[in-house]
Amino acid sequence: MEIIHVSAECYPVAKAGGLGDVVGALPKYQVKAGHIAKVVMPMYRTKFLYDNEWTVDFKGQTNLGNWVFDYTVIKESSNKLGYDLYLIDINGLLDRQKIYGYDDDAERFTAFQIAFVNWMVHWEHEPDIVHCHDYHTGLIPFMMQYCYDYNRLRHIPSVLTIHNAQYQGWMGWDKSRYIPRWDLWKRGMLDWNDTINPLASGIKCASKVTTVSWSYMDELRTNSNGLEKLFEYERGKCVGILNGIDNEVWNPATDKYLTHHYSTKDIAAGKQKNKKILCEKFGLDIGKPLFIFIGRLVGEKAADVLPYAIRQAIEQTNGEACFLVLGSGETNVEWEFQQMAEPYRGVFNVVIGYDETLSHIMYAGADFLLMPSRVEPCGLNQMYSMRYGTVPMVRSTGGLQDTVVDMGDPDGFGIRFNHASADDITYSINRAVSVYQDSMQMEKMRKKMMEIDHSWESTVDEYTNVYKSLK
Ligand code: ADP
Ligand code: GLC
Repeated sequence: MEIIHVSAECYPVAKAGGLGDVVGALPKYQVKAGHIAKVVMPMYRTKFLYDNEWTVDFKGQTNLGNWVFDYTVIKESSNKLGYDLYLIDINGLLDRQKIYGYDDDAERFTAFQIAFVNWMVHWEHEPDIVHCHDYHTGLIPFMMQYCYDYNRLRHIPSVLTIHNAQYQGWMGWDKSRYIPRWDLWKRGMLDWNDTINPLASGIKCASKVTTVSWSYMDELRTNSNGLEKLFEYERGKCVGILNGIDNEVWNPATDKYLTHHYSTKDIAAGKQKNKKILCEKFGLDIGKPLFIFIGRLVGEKAADVLPYAIRQAIEQTNGEACFLVLGSGETNVEWEFQQMAEPYRGVFNVVIGYDETLSHIMYAGADFLLMPSRVEPCGLNQMYSMRYGTVPMVRSTGGLQDTVVDMGDPDGFGIRFNHASADDITYSINRAVSVYQDSMQMEKMRKKMMEIDHSWESTVDEYTNVYKSLK
């Protein structure tokens, strides 16, 4: 089958979070399984762009409302990623340093989607599936069906994968002028609560909707930032497929970001060497259990309760635990963490920012990973930490619930708790500190986790089944 993934992120081209990881890996494993998979994304000014060779594949012109714009589709020349990668360049709109966070994001992603369908209508062949990811590509199924100029595409099945329903891309109806000549009778297919809602439109118009874990699929019907009724109504075409991880990128035995590699044969020694790097660099005590948090410092990740929870844990354990935080996000949370670095020197440190290399060393060198998320559609951090023998400590929600088994269970290896509250987190840290003293149990849990198969190889077929059901 030929599958075209359309996304705002794709690792290693441009990544802000897990969406990038998934779109960077799934197509690679689809190709390995015998499919043709391609990725189309916006051309941002990233390092990957400058480090690689490109050929021009197509030049076109279209419009966003009254604004007529040129776009160029470039293709990565050497098939370096294991699948064909296309970037759409719209001068002045997409070619920026960051992926998101601009005032004109609505215009940027709408123009990207228009350019994509405009380009596709020129193709001589037809792909089997157009696979959209998140709201940035949520208008594509509508445009393929209800825009007069793109009628030719209407019978191509589309799949929308929801990585995060918190973000929906809401636009006022004044922006409907951006959408190329469309069937006005279909207004309802764009609308949710009197705004244009690209995510809701994708859910209504895509042939099939998937999300990235089974539990999150269920949660969406009761907690999806206003789309609960829609998920209930469309439940027949929705399916949960748990994300995989790219075992080639995330492998402690070969990881290109690590200087000290290890496997299940030498877990404790290998992890200790990585821990030493972290403790020396961040002034932490190597004799104490090391807890880490990596991620966006936002309410969804419950990052706002972490500063208090960590302070409370340090005090309750009499400084017997160390903490290292890597992330960026809400300014008040960043500020709170920064304020803690000095008074808690020796047991706490923080890096505000995004650092791919450091994140890999942290997964390898830490003993425990904190993930108290209020909402977690799948979560990749906990799967990476398991692969690196780091015990995940998670709130029981979404994909965290589907992937982590509490150590109280005979088959358990992690720690689960119910509330994103400082008390639940502190209580769990206390549990972790006592299990850390038991090196036999730690070793057993680490080995068990590292042997769990979360590879994409075992998940690709589930997507294939979804695609086949549409042919
Ligand atoms: P989300 O996509 O909601 O942020 P996921 O758990 O699915 O959460 O994926 C997060 C991904 O982003 C992981 O690969 C994680 O290591 C990475 N990541 C998040 N924040 C940072 C950061 N500050 N520096 C480096 N990597 C980060
Ligand atoms: C989103 C979700 C995260 C998920 C990722 C990849 O960013 O917040 O839980 O793992 O997408 O699907």
